[in-house]
Amino acid sequence: MEIKKVGVVGCGLMGSGIAEVSARSGYETMVLEVNQNFLDKGLASIKASLDKAASKGKMSEQDREATLGRLKGTIDVGDFKDRDLVIEAVIENMDEKKKVLASVDKVCPPHAILASNTSCLSILQMAMATGRPAQVIGMHFFQPVPVMALVEIVKTIVLTDETVKAAEAFSKSLGKQVIFAKDTPGFLVNRLGFPFMMNAIRMLDEGWTTVEELDRAWMMGTNSPMGPCTLMDFAGLDTMYSMACAMYDEFKDPIYAPPPLLKAMVTAGMYGKKNGKGFYKYD
Ligand SMILES: NC(=O)c1ccc[n+]([C@@H]2O[C@H](COP(=O)([O-])OP(=O)(O)OC[C@H]3O[C@@H](n4cnc5c(N)ncnc54)[C@H](O)[C@@H]3O)[C@@H](O)[C@H]2O)c1
Repeated sequence: MEIKKVGVVGCGLMGSGIAEVSARSGYETMVLEVNQNFLDKGLASIKASLDKAASKGKMSEQDREATLGRLKGTIDVGDFKDRDLVIEAVIENMDEKKKVLASVDKVCPPHAILASNTSCLSILQMAMATGRPAQVIGMHFFQPVPVMALVEIVKTIVLTDETVKAAEAFSKSLGKQVIFAKDTPGFLVNRLGFPFMMNAIRMLDEGWTTVEELDRAWMMGTNSPMGPCTLMDFAGLDTMYSMACAMYDEFKDPIYAPPPLLKAMVTAGMYGKKNGKGFYKYD
């Protein structure tokens, strides 16, 4: 199956990145948001990212213009009637994702593939909310999408091989590497990484050290580009909290349980870099 027209639902941190790489890779790409305000904000962040790439010489002016020409925004799901692939990147909430995929399913052509960028929720549960479960797949990108090389492709037990092959070919055409994962919470990367990040918050809560020292220790000791607190601020603490709840709910293993400090920060409206307040403050 040939993918030419791509839809992305949600133009936040991840949706904007996915739409950017899709348009950069030659696909006619349309993003859907809840209202004009969020749509304008999302499109502006994609434009800013393209401007930065062009100013650093990572893409030509001509490519920047052509990419912008392939990118459109809408607040009407009906505009997805001609999409070959739709990737949802709305908030990490099963009810919202089911609602979104069911509405996209109603308007998309029968051949279209529907994908979710969820970090840990069940793809099969989302698939069963649509009339085409065999064409619903997990495509888990990493942040920042234009930079990170990996897409985890999440396979359910009802998927067709054609859907898997099309999702794999599309991911590779974006310049990404693919790994396949089973439809279990957290897939591969988050299942490995979550106990580490939740443990970092517990260590802070118990007063072992400071945010800065914890990050510095991890970076120096492991030669990593960023420490756990910076990483969680970048990912969004609200998203981290939803993921921890979902993983703990499934596994009932305390290593995934959201620590009280994470819950308190989210309750206090500290969502990380996206709203300027997290473990660190951002302008
Ligand atoms: N943040 C990360 O590092 C990261 C990494 C990989 C995957 N993910 C996953 O990607 C998804 C999105 O995360 P994010 O960090 O981009 O969140 P975000 O809060 O930055 O963006 C979500 C966007 O979805 C929009 N939205 C919500 N409901 C919608 C609807 N019904 N229709 C259209 N738009 C809607 C919101 O307005 C918002 O702009 C989540 O499932 C998350 O788990 C996040």
